Amino acid sequence: MQDTDWASRDWTYGKILRDKTIVVTGCSSGIGRDTAKLIKQLGGDVIGVDRNKTEDYVDELYLADLSDRRTIKALVNALPGRIDGIANIAGLPPTAPADLVIKVNLVGLKYFTELMVSKLNDNGSIVNLASLAGFGWPDALEAIKASEHLAFEDVERFMHDHKISNEGGRSYFFSKEALVVWTKKNRWTWRDRGIRMNAVSPGPVETPILADFVKTLGARAEEDMSVNDRPGRPDDIAPVVCFLLSDMTHWFRGANLMLDGGMSSHIYQNMHQF
Ligand SMILES: NC(=O)c1ccc[n+]([C@@H]2O[C@H](COP(=O)([O-])OP(=O)(O)OC[C@H]3O[C@@H](n4cnc5c(N)ncnc54)[C@H](O)[C@@H]3O)[C@@H](O)[C@H]2O)c1
Repeated sequence: MQDTDWASRDWTYGKILRDKTIVVTGCSSGIGRDTAKLIKQLGGDVIGVDRNKTEDYVDELYLADLSDRRTIKALVNALPGRIDGIANIAGLPPTAPADLVIKVNLVGLKYFTELMVSKLNDNGSIVNLASLAGFGWPDALEAIKASEHLAFEDVERFMHDHKISNEGGRSYFFSKEALVVWTKKNRWTWRDRGIRMNAVSPGPVETPILADFVKTLGARAEEDMSVNDRPGRPDDIAPVVCFLLSDMTHWFRGANLMLDGGMSSHIYQNMHQF
């Protein structure tokens, strides 16, 4: 994977994240790593959270497993206050055990975020890394509603009841569908403090987990990717995450920005025949 030379891009001199402290989960690899790097280039400080160690682009690193309730609670207690933004980027691909996919991508993310709100400054920004895989959320509303208060210890029973397994990547798709809905539902939960939450939904991005998607989805992934000229790169995603973290976006609430080189429009066109 190519290491982005953010300093060579003229627009980074704008320093749109100057003096902001941002918590980036999943900072050790892929999109999270590139986002941490760009936050620094844009004048911010990065508090990184990951289960894997890194020394790149983080001012402080907290090692934590975001699939575990107690670890998340301890992590939040340990993290400093006066945070300006959270980029919830850590995630597992559909090749990981299905219950872990739901725990990390959905249940843990929600639990972490809700606990962190008390550590956020007024006018803070929360950005959730969803996915084009969440596009089909309107067709999964029954299960999504049933997952609203899903606890870590109930994940396996919930998956059994709603027939969610790794088959066809369903655990991953469900985690992102429910994340998009949760983001929309909380569009102004913390409005009295000016805290906003939005999502970005990338199509396939060249990171270490891209091969896992291709492995899980097989011919379907090849076909989906063949309609586009290229897969995304972390440097296609990081600027949009940083934009949402910046003071330019206070009226974005509950938005889900599709970042897919045109793939969602391609799906809409096929669906609605325009
Ligand atoms: N790569 C893609 O094609 C693509 C497309 C759409 C959305 N996404 C989403 O983007 C996000 C980042 O993915 P990426 O492609 O950069 O993958 P990646 O594997 O390069 O990075 C994921 C990071 O999350 C961390 N992580 C995973 N499980 C964790 C846990 N239990 N506790 C703490 N940290 C954990 C990993 O250690 C890693 O650093 C994910 O949420 C993913 O679902 C990726």
